[in-house]
Amino acid sequence: MKLLAPSILSADFSSLAQQIRYVEMGGADWIHCDIMDGQFVPNITFGPLVVKALRKITKLPIDVHLMIKNPDNFIQAFIDAGADYITVHQEEVIHLHRTIQKIKEFGAKAGVAINPATPVNVLSEILFDLDMVLVMSVNPGFGGQKFLPSSINKIKELESLRKSKNLNFLIEIDGGVGISNIKEISAAGCNAFVAGASVFATSNITASTVELKNLLS
Ligand code: DX5
Ligand code: ZN
Repeated sequence: MKLLAPSILSADFSSLAQQIRYVEMGGADWIHCDIMDGQFVPNITFGPLVVKALRKITKLPIDVHLMIKNPDNFIQAFIDAGADYITVHQEEVIHLHRTIQKIKEFGAKAGVAINPATPVNVLSEILFDLDMVLVMSVNPGFGGQKFLPSSINKIKELESLRKSKNLNFLIEIDGGVGISNIKEISAAGCNAFVAGASVFATSNITASTVELKNLLS
């Protein structure tokens, strides 16, 4: 399965509904929301209110990536707002198993993200419980950064674990994904591709979406 998940981090928030329509017209599969609190990462974005507004204007699954301190405190609020996937960071959550169960109990799919400095093996005991693993291919906090090629090896490692353990979690990549590298990332076994700047910071959002989708097909 190959899914394109445009990140609205690079969208024009003064016309968000229109921007969502553009990616829908291009065949986007999910809408990726980057939630930042100025604590876990050095930037602040938005909260459940914006997710709730998105829920009204699109039927696409909403993929919420929590780059915040104490994500447990906000899981229910984001799911109530309409999130379909909730991803928390391994580096921030102490009782990861409990947090994953909580996400599922509230009715969403559960993902865990790992930063560039975090190895895949920290997830070995929790892989069985996950719907998704998100590999950060930039240091989280900002859109438009350069893709870190070492993340390709993490995708390959996850793909081989998934096969050998007969699991079916999705593998998602996030950061610096664009037309120059999406094919290579896909070939490594990745399923969901977050794309911010390469979709929204272009002159034709729909055409950019179509181009990325074509490279995945
Ligand atoms: C980084 C975010 C990403 C990122 C994607 O902290 O999690 O979703 O903004 O944007 P691009 O594709 O511009 O790197
Ligand atoms: Zn993200």
